[in-house]
Amino acid sequence: MSNRKRIAVAGGTGLVGAKVVARLEAAGHDAVALTRRTGIDLTTGDGLEEALRGVDAVVDCTSLESRKPAETTAFFRAVATNLQRAGAAAGVRRIVTLSIVGIDGLGGGAFGHYDGKRAQEAATEAGEVPTAILRATQFHGFAGQLIDWMAVGGVLPCPKQPVQTVEVDAVADELVALALEEPTEQHARKDVAGPDKRMLADLARAIAKARGQRLLVVRVWLPGATAKKVRKGVLQASPRAEIIGGTFEEWLARERPAR
Ligand SMILES: NC(=O)c1ccc[n+]([C@@H]2O[C@H](COP(=O)([O-])OP(=O)(O)OC[C@H]3O[C@@H](n4cnc5c(N)ncnc54)[C@H](OP(=O)(O)O)[C@@H]3O)[C@@H](O)[C@H]2O)c1
Repeated sequence: MSNRKRIAVAGGTGLVGAKVVARLEAAGHDAVALTRRTGIDLTTGDGLEEALRGVDAVVDCTSLESRKPAETTAFFRAVATNLQRAGAAAGVRRIVTLSIVGIDGLGGGAFGHYDGKRAQEAATEAGEVPTAILRATQFHGFAGQLIDWMAVGGVLPCPKQPVQTVEVDAVADELVALALEEPTEQHARKDVAGPDKRMLADLARAIAKARGQRLLVVRVWLPGATAKKVRKGVLQASPRAEIIGGTFEEWLARERPAR
């Protein structure tokens, strides 16, 4: 009997999704990327049931740029609900969702992405298809994304934010393993984090230096309960987290991030 499986990757052209697709294909499985570029808008779900015929498992790596809680909530809830509905109709065995460590009770303002992620987790676990939620900490390159989004005139406003960043390739390995394994429970959950506790501002300085980019990191004070929890380190590894992948410095030396 062949062990070849057919796995759909929602957001399969994105940063994480493309790595999941590449790993599945390298291991001899069929990977189907579900994105608007490949003809499926997951917020409407049109054509999704058809696309999921013969699919064993789905990995949800979708994302959007907005941080407005209403927009992130509507997006992630719609995508998760449509994947569950069409997945159940097509006989999918498991839906694996990539989420973020420590997001319970966090949201709003600069952290509006987390409102959407909690809605995504709830919507996927509300469906019929067995689920696995992998919560990861921020990726090693996260501070680079922050520079690209937020730095103006060589100045990056950055809150006090302890992080424990993780290697994105190791996260992709975990997602693939969860998609290929046989589910033994209706709702599996796993947390993963990288090896080192660091400050986001220090990682931003290191990335800017590696890019040859002049950057002044200015500490900003964000008001509110979410910012307070973040300052206290809620985004770092939970006690249940498994430590995976290499360090930030190893990643930086290998990736040589460009602007
Ligand atoms: N960055 C971090 O540090 C971090 C840490 C932990 C977890 N995560 C989670 O990782 C996940 C993936 O992030 P990423 O950086 O890989 O995202 P990304 O690079 O922005 O990719 C997003 C993907 O979603 C697809 N997409 C967007 N809207 C869609 C729609 N309406 N229908 C179908 N596909 C759609 C995009 O393809 P099209 O544009 O072609 O549709 C793309 O393939 C996110 O949910 C994030 O919360 C991130």
